[in-house]
Amino acid sequence: MLVTGASSGIGFETARALAAAQAHVIIACRSVAKGAESAARIVAHHPHAKVTPIELDLASFKSVRRAVGELPADKIDALICNAGLFANTYQTTEDGIESTVGVCHFGHFLLTQLVKPRLRAAVRARVVMVSSESHRYPSTLKLERFPLAPTSYKPLVSYGQAKLCNVLFANELTRRWAADGITANSLHPGSFIGTDIFRSTVAGKAISVLISPFTKSIAQGAATTVYCAVAPELEGVGGRYFADCREKPMSAGARDADIAARLWTLSEERVSR
Ligand SMILES: NC(=O)c1ccc[n+]([C@@H]2O[C@H](COP(=O)([O-])OP(=O)(O)OC[C@H]3O[C@@H](n4cnc5c(N)ncnc54)[C@H](OP(=O)(O)O)[C@@H]3O)[C@@H](O)[C@H]2O)c1
Repeated sequence: MLVTGASSGIGFETARALAAAQAHVIIACRSVAKGAESAARIVAHHPHAKVTPIELDLASFKSVRRAVGELPADKIDALICNAGLFANTYQTTEDGIESTVGVCHFGHFLLTQLVKPRLRAAVRARVVMVSSESHRYPSTLKLERFPLAPTSYKPLVSYGQAKLCNVLFANELTRRWAADGITANSLHPGSFIGTDIFRSTVAGKAISVLISPFTKSIAQGAATTVYCAVAPELEGVGGRYFADCREKPMSAGARDADIAARLWTLSEERVSR
């Protein structure tokens, strides 16, 4: 299994839970040092865990290509696209894309395309997109305003676009790849879980610290991801949205198959430039 953004937060707990259950988990982290430290922490908790850290910066198509070229597995049963960020100010990836959608969507889009042969090798494989209830705002993905320009940049809108892309991508992937034995679901891990996601804003960080005692723990936040990755009843099931380890209705905008297909085509074009 391959988990992105496993150096901290929900991704770390997801990798830990899967490794504890005997899966070989490849943890993809943009910092080599943090990846090694995370792997060591998991093995310290679970001495028989098989965890392999690899370097992956989703803000760089070059890094994504290199990481897939060096993947230490011919077969991947589950690709868990967990990495994400909330960028309080406008920033771009190495390839010039607004960074929230650049990392959360375009980086994961390229990664998934390149990992496809290894997913196919697993016969029945799953892609799990860690989205958010934030996918409901904006209510639709307006491609003429995607990604946002520096002059119209709004952090919440960009985060919402990125999380809406995660759901649209899972749905479209299932339509296109189910016949190859690959399906994808998306999920909401929980709200205001006390991770580092809102570290870029003082207000976000303060709210997160104040609210987190009343929200899910980070380990509880990983539960729906783990459920989507391994639950036997979800074998061959895709195009659905989950929260609290059960299916939940996705927004109307996320069900728009026309936008999902256009996003796929646009993404193919953007990552191959
Ligand atoms: N926390 C919540 O309440 C909440 C709610 C809804 C959805 N989510 C979603 O849950 C997922 C995990 O977030 P979290 O809350 O666990 O936050 P987090 O602790 O900040 O974890 C985010 C992870 O993504 C990684 N990442 C960021 N940019 C990257 C890049 N360019 N390349 C590779 N990895 C990168 C981070 O790596 P570094 O350690 O190197 O920064 C980190 O491991 C995200 O997709 C988020 O949108 C979280």
